[in-house]
Amino acid sequence: MGGMTDGAYAAAYEQSISDPNAFWGAAATGIEWMTPPPVVLDDSRPPFYRWFTGGTLNTCFNALDRHVRDGRGDQVALYYDSPVTGVTSSYTYAALLAEVARCAGALRSLGVGKGDRVVVYMPMIPEAVITMLACARLGAIHSVVFGGFAPAELAARIEDATPKVIVSASCGIEPSRVIPYKPFLDGAIERSSHKPERCIILQRPQVEAEMGPCDVDWVEIMATAEPADCVEVAATDPLYILYTSGTTGRPKGIVRDNGGHAVALTWSMSNIYGIGPGDVWFTASDVGWVVGHSYIVYAPLLVGATTIVYEGKPVGTPDASAFWRIIGTYGAKAMFTAPTAYRAIKKEDPDAVLRAGHDLSGLETVFLAGERLDPDTYEWASEILGIPIVDNWWQTETGWPIAANLRGLDPMPIKPGSPSVSVPGYNVQVLDEMGAQVPAGVEGAIAIKLPLPPGTLPTLWQDDDRYVASYLSVYDGYYLTGDGGLIDADGYVYVMGRTDDVLNVAGHRLSTGSIEAALAGHHDVAECAVIGVADDFKGQVPRGLVVLKAGVDAETQGERIRRELIQRVRDEVGAVASLRQVDIVAALPKTRSGKILRKTMREMADGKVPSVPGTIEDVSVLDALQGVLRPE
Ligand code: COA
Ligand code: AMP
Repeated sequence: MGGMTDGAYAAAYEQSISDPNAFWGAAATGIEWMTPPPVVLDDSRPPFYRWFTGGTLNTCFNALDRHVRDGRGDQVALYYDSPVTGVTSSYTYAALLAEVARCAGALRSLGVGKGDRVVVYMPMIPEAVITMLACARLGAIHSVVFGGFAPAELAARIEDATPKVIVSASCGIEPSRVIPYKPFLDGAIERSSHKPERCIILQRPQVEAEMGPCDVDWVEIMATAEPADCVEVAATDPLYILYTSGTTGRPKGIVRDNGGHAVALTWSMSNIYGIGPGDVWFTASDVGWVVGHSYIVYAPLLVGATTIVYEGKPVGTPDASAFWRIIGTYGAKAMFTAPTAYRAIKKEDPDAVLRAGHDLSGLETVFLAGERLDPDTYEWASEILGIPIVDNWWQTETGWPIAANLRGLDPMPIKPGSPSVSVPGYNVQVLDEMGAQVPAGVEGAIAIKLPLPPGTLPTLWQDDDRYVASYLSVYDGYYLTGDGGLIDADGYVYVMGRTDDVLNVAGHRLSTGSIEAALAGHHDVAECAVIGVADDFKGQVPRGLVVLKAGVDAETQGERIRRELIQRVRDEVGAVASLRQVDIVAALPKTRSGKILRKTMREMADGKVPSVPGTIEDVSVLDALQGVLRPE
């Protein structure tokens, strides 16, 4: 490491890599165990490393019960602020514990126990958090599905997780419209070969869900539920499954364990984010994403802080002052969101005049993650707020930052365009195609030398083979992040973007495969490809290229087909995957073995010099696409 990163960080980092047992053994004292772990790093079955084998605990106990026991019962644990419904409320630690224990009792009365799966399909309301923690209390495994996903995506997750119970609400609320969830849920269950035994439905006043024979009303079941106690689970037992998009249409079930997760998140809150007991912390994301799991729900509660559940957008609810109002009203010490949210505010209120009148004096730091933080957005946010704007890079798979500026442990200079340095525990390296480490400053594939630290995925849900094939098979002994980038001479990591076909649209991770499956299902489509093209606001937007079946006339039918395709993607995948553009083309460029050259097309659409593999089947197909794909 160079001179910019000497000090507490350098010492912690060095120890985390050279002596992970000592480093994580010490970090493990930050949580309360039922049986302290006899083992820190369990490397008995590589490449399946486990942490804290033999230890037992309960994550919900660590997030709620022990804080109440230790005198934090009257402190607010959760503020709920929903400009889309006009509702605000708050829960003290004692009140949240009571609700969670009751919800756990309700789930138990439906037969949910340790190891059973519960799918949660809910908007940003406290009941989503309550359900997650109730599952953790019972040792049941929650799988939260983002409310913006349509039936096909929800069905794929139900099929894979095989939940005993699904917990949902009657609707979600977008600024422009109310979205009834029940028809989506019923549609998804109908498509899935696995059927849950019961669904608990929270009726919201905006839309009443029609209840079926297996449905149970949230209010009714909660009213009579007996509070349930914490169930002892193994450190290595799963806490949750969170599905994320890979390159194929089938989502990957990222598994999170209980012990490593609680230890890593607790460590991250103080050392990376500088947040401790009693601090107010505002993460504007969604419980359906990993940022929501880790930094709306678990991490703030594990450390006894106050979390804010915000149901709304950064703009339009009612205007671009939403974040400033929340920060001022609740006295947030730090906030966390995706860069696209700041770009949305910048677009609406470029001079940040709406900041006036809101007391931001308590705000010390803004953390941004989920997509690349472009230097323009970084500069703008720094200027209007006058505090550190801190990028951090991670993935659903890791659950907490891989690279960050460790504001709690050892704040370091910020370099725009970089999420700063490798976080202790992550041996981040940049490799060339042969798997050799490249010199500082040279771009390559970003990989992490095994073992990954606690809190990261131990495997994919019931699919060890896919875990190995997806992440561990390219470079022996390394986890492949799927991102390309470089590390400079000071140890600062620069993340340039995905090297595979995973899309990142407005901080939402989407799969080209599932959008393609929606397009391919249209009766006039012979072949299709989806690429992510650069967009100033959303980072990337999906664009579809389709080849029509013989006999379908693009001239006369094209407009209708395009319209139908855009609608199909919204109906099948969800509005978050909305195609910006669909082009009807004569043929798609492929290799001789039939692999579609998405990367080459993406480079053309972004105005870059396309990389054309030697194995291309027919160069003239690419030439014909020049006119379609080249930006004006
Ligand atoms: N349920 C249902 N629909 C949803 C939804 C949800 N939870 N979230 C988004 N949608 C819909 C939107 O209403 C929109 O529909 P429309 O095309 O009919 O208008 C569509 O999906 C696209 O949404 P989005 O890409 O979010 O664009 P937007 O203009 O509504 O909002 C931002 C833009 C930047 C404000 C928003 O994307 C945002 O806050 N992003 C941050 C993402 C994030 O938190 N990521 C997690 C990592 S931190
Ligand atoms: P997700 O799993 O939804 O969190 O998405 C993970 C992907 O988002 C990463 O693989 C990156 O491509 C991208 N990403 C997340 N955070 C950053 C960041 N700070 N800088 C650059 N890319 C990021």
